[in-house]
Amino acid sequence: MNAPRARIIGTGSYLPEKRMTNEELAKIVDTTSEWISSRTGILERHIAAEEEMTSDLATHAGRRALEAAGCAPEDLDLIICATSTPDLVFPATAAIVQHKIGAHNAKAPAFDIQAVCTGFIYALSIADQFVRSGMSKKVLVVGAETFTRILDWEDRTTCILFGDGAGAVVLDAVEEGGSRGILSTHMHADGSHVELLHVTGGISKGRPRGFDVRHEALGFVDMQGNEVFKQAVKAMGAVAEEALAANGMTVDNVDWLIPHQANKRILQATAKRIGIPEERVIVTVDHHGNTSAASVPLALDEAVRDGRIQPNQIVLLDAFGGGFTWASALLRW
Ligand code: COA
Repeated sequence: MNAPRARIIGTGSYLPEKRMTNEELAKIVDTTSEWISSRTGILERHIAAEEEMTSDLATHAGRRALEAAGCAPEDLDLIICATSTPDLVFPATAAIVQHKIGAHNAKAPAFDIQAVCTGFIYALSIADQFVRSGMSKKVLVVGAETFTRILDWEDRTTCILFGDGAGAVVLDAVEEGGSRGILSTHMHADGSHVELLHVTGGISKGRPRGFDVRHEALGFVDMQGNEVFKQAVKAMGAVAEEALAANGMTVDNVDWLIPHQANKRILQATAKRIGIPEERVIVTVDHHGNTSAASVPLALDEAVRDGRIQPNQIVLLDAFGGGFTWASALLRW
């Protein structure tokens, strides 16, 4: 008897209404629209409204994914939310989402995953294991962030890069013998480079030295962009190759690469390293910036809804983030 396989049967995403263009950003920090667009490919980002929390973004994206899947909230038997910007220290944002989407009868387990920008693929991989083992059948996996809440708006090297958003997928257990679905996932971490990309404060560490009213959150994003860039390209290239080798495929088999939408130059360099032409790379970073755990499912949803991704195509998801963490997922759509 073959183990069941998990297949994505619906995708959804949500970007907050408020947009901030590069021109607007250039009014509050020492930068220019031209510098941002030429160095990152980002033209604008979305900012959650004051009362909008990560769970609200996740709920919008989750509802859209459920609708696309033709699935009721009560059908879910697992909810996983990938986020580094949860509503509260506890409970998990996934539990809050369970309530907000109305999965009242489900009593499904709900928990968060924290792997920063790699979080969605980590969550997808965990969901895949639950389905393969027979523990779960219908799973909601969400990547959602209000990353702008942990930005230092006086630091031009970081605040220009990030935005808020959410993306979600619904997984279903595929009948035995089906060839579509998640073919494999690969996850990695190396915690020896925390200083290159981290948030300066935390629960057990407390607030950063020199805390002032600007940093109402528990610290802010601090990054050595140049070094992170190099590490990201190397790791995303390696984990993509690992996925292809594990499935006896080459880059020629891949119809679409969906890399973490960090910035356009990282995407181009990763695509070049893997050897995939740019026309087969999904790029959405221009209109939402780096939304961390939301970036891969946001890009996936856009490419599914505009019809680029078609049944039976091979789709490679690839991400890198703080930790460092990096991961890939290979899917037959
Ligand atoms: N506007 C204008 N100038 C800026 C600027 C901004 N927003 N940010 C930095 N600069 C300046 C720097 O101060 C530096 O000036 P100097 O030469 O006088 O010292 C110059 O631009 C070059 O800085 P550098 O850091 O070398 O630029 P870069 O080409 O590496 O681009 C990033 C900076 C952040 C865009 C780039 O390193 C990057 O994208 N890194 C990866 C970040 C990322 O995606 N992280 C998330 C991964 S999960």
